[in-house]
Amino acid sequence: MNILILGSGGREHALAWKLDQSKKVDHLFIAPGNAGTSLLGTNLPLDVEDFESIKTTIVEKDIEMVIVGPEIPLVKGIKDFFLEDKFLKNIPLIGPSKAAAQLEGSKDFAKMFMEKYQIPAAASRTFTKETITEAKAFLESLNAPYVLKADGLAGGKGVIILNDVNEAKAELNHMLVEEKFGNASSKVVIEEFLQGIEVSVFVLTDGIHYKLLPEAKDYKRIGEGDTGLNTGGMGSISPVPFVTGEFLEKVKSKIIEPTLLGIQKENLDYRGFIFFGLMNVNGEPYLIEYNCRMGDPETQSVIPRIKSDLFDLFEGVVHQDLDTRKLEIDERYATSVVMVSEGYPGKYEIGKPITGIGNLNNCILFYAGAGNDIENNVVKTSGGRVLSITSFGITIDEALKNAYTNIEHIQYEGRTFRKDLGFDLK
Ligand code: AMP
Ligand code: GLY
Repeated sequence: MNILILGSGGREHALAWKLDQSKKVDHLFIAPGNAGTSLLGTNLPLDVEDFESIKTTIVEKDIEMVIVGPEIPLVKGIKDFFLEDKFLKNIPLIGPSKAAAQLEGSKDFAKMFMEKYQIPAAASRTFTKETITEAKAFLESLNAPYVLKADGLAGGKGVIILNDVNEAKAELNHMLVEEKFGNASSKVVIEEFLQGIEVSVFVLTDGIHYKLLPEAKDYKRIGEGDTGLNTGGMGSISPVPFVTGEFLEKVKSKIIEPTLLGIQKENLDYRGFIFFGLMNVNGEPYLIEYNCRMGDPETQSVIPRIKSDLFDLFEGVVHQDLDTRKLEIDERYATSVVMVSEGYPGKYEIGKPITGIGNLNNCILFYAGAGNDIENNVVKTSGGRVLSITSFGITIDEALKNAYTNIEHIQYEGRTFRKDLGFDLK
């Protein structure tokens, strides 16, 4: 079977790497892909939001299944586009419908859903420009820190946490009145701050059954000790030691199962990944957010731990018999260290030649912002997050040691990475 993966990051490289191992997969197409995915299949220069061009490619290349990596095409309704098209409706797509993707695409929708299905979450209220006076009064009634969330997608920048109530009120003005995030901040969710440690939990669902995938911890801040600006992710570790059997049972019964029940009751067409962003508050899981896709860079440590055939699981999603499919997990720790460009997440330069990729062992290299310079036969940096190295170990330290040893072989000007992953898990 020919498969198309949409996206271009480390997450999509990891999905391609795994699907490439399936006997049932003939050829992989990745759009737009990166230098790493070009080693596993054919990269296609397509925009993931250009549904018409995606359709043309599917017809031309005889593609029989589509896997959607990032959230934007899902929130914009790629699944609905498929279902409404005479030809595409027979091509299975892994990802939720537009209405179901609102779980990620609208924080207000997600909070209402959580409340309706009694899923533990931070208390919150949603406000608009018209209700800004009430919003400010609500801020006064809360204790610091204050959590403000733009309702819509804001490229990962839409959550703002402030310690000072006056700063929080000023920020509210930026968001609601000055439309800091455009339409995405025409509604703002204000919520209670949850104190705890975060963990990302993933399931694959066919809308009825689900498979619990390995959980992971991601490291979002640029600086060691979780300091400095938020990034798209500086690394991930799976499994997470504090996610014990007891905690996981609570996650299943209080969060995952009520979510699936809600999806069915609301008649949402959801066949794909659900990413639960959780906070562990004194041993109790609280849901911070839903994402309608896998996490990046969590995928780079979660997917390599799956021993079973991922394509077989996707077939289970399509046929709604996921309960009959096998999911075996590698017990070892997988750690993924992300290498970024100097200056990221601020301004950075690209086009730096990368050397040493051929000298790695005992690890998996996933590419993100790295592209082929075919003329000069070299791979060059092309983004903020450049590469990630995934390694296994019986302990977190052993896995990390493998990753850090291999990183030393890879060089490019301005190579930057965090050396302290896992500091909070030991
Ligand atoms: P989100 O974009 O929803 O993932 O939020 C970004 C980050 O903000 C999360 O990963 C948390 O670190 C933090 N965050 C969001 N909501 C809360 C909350 N209610 N309490 C504490 N931290 C939060
Ligand atoms: N690692 C967080 C995310 O993918 O949104």
